[in-house]
Amino acid sequence: MYLRNCWYIAGLSGEVTNEPVGKIFLGEPVVLFRTSDGTVAALEDRCCHRHLPLSLGKVSNGHLQCGYHGLEFDVSGACVSVPGQSRVPPGAAVRRYPVVEMYDWLWIWMGDPDAADQGLIPDVFWRDDPGWVATGEYWAVACAYDLLIDIQLDNTHAPFVHPDTLGSSAITDTAPRVERTDRTVSAGRWMMDVVPSPTFARASGTEENVDRWLLWEFTPPSLCAFDIGCAIAGSGAETGDRSQGVTLHTAHFVTPETETSCHYFWSVGRNYNTDDIAVTGAMHTEFKSIFSEDVEIVEAQQKSLDNTSVWQPIDVNADAPVLQARQLLKNFISAETDA
Ligand code: FES
Ligand SMILES: [Fe+2]
Repeated sequence: MYLRNCWYIAGLSGEVTNEPVGKIFLGEPVVLFRTSDGTVAALEDRCCHRHLPLSLGKVSNGHLQCGYHGLEFDVSGACVSVPGQSRVPPGAAVRRYPVVEMYDWLWIWMGDPDAADQGLIPDVFWRDDPGWVATGEYWAVACAYDLLIDIQLDNTHAPFVHPDTLGSSAITDTAPRVERTDRTVSAGRWMMDVVPSPTFARASGTEENVDRWLLWEFTPPSLCAFDIGCAIAGSGAETGDRSQGVTLHTAHFVTPETETSCHYFWSVGRNYNTDDIAVTGAMHTEFKSIFSEDVEIVEAQQKSLDNTSVWQPIDVNADAPVLQARQLLKNFISAETDA
């Protein structure tokens, strides 16, 4: 069961052109295409005539034309033309999904189109703020989407999965402060006067002790946004003065594909040395390596679950924030189902 009345990322803005592209979201086939005026549309990827995927067709005169018998559909999903006849049969249409382009991503609303609210797209200002430089990638990942959410929100894996980059015993030694609102779960760790992890020693250019922060916010269905960084120990970062340190934002947005696969959009941004292309390249390489370590874990976990008849995990204290996030998502889904 998935949350439907919410935004998921469908793809990168630049990947959708006038060549239709077929994808699976929440187990449903969707075709994305761009008309000549630049509008991006998302329709059910299944022709209402004989069910050929519409992604095998082409865009013509602002319409998507099926590649089998040439029925044409407008961006609302309505069939507007049938070759060889003047009349369009009543009910000839495919489902439409609202799409919005923001932050260089395409956001799709898989639920009731009339309920689509652009204001619910999370704030990822650093993706297009001129004071920030952002980079990122899309990966197809072979695991259930909630496993990929879990690993992002479970920070205690860092010393074991990322020992050469983000890992530090300071994370496991510091309990997070967890807060919950009706729309989000957030957790924050402030690790004071600690040795910087390798990534932060490189980013800040110091081996001296730092005050390090690791703050995240989870917004259902699958949006994990991080504010991470470190500053010279005792320089006041925790009370708001980050001038003696470095701040990075990362985002992990996951869209379910099937029960055991998902679309993973990650991004990282920084507001220091923004003109230095070499720093951008190094940041990209470093975080790509870190996030690929996560993917290795969750894909192996999925394979293990595939061979497990009953999912009976044992919980430990450190699981509390992740369990709260899972519960919030479950509540959202139950509320939607009840409604
Ligand atoms: S299957 Fe699409 S036009 Fe016939
Ligand atoms: Fe990780």
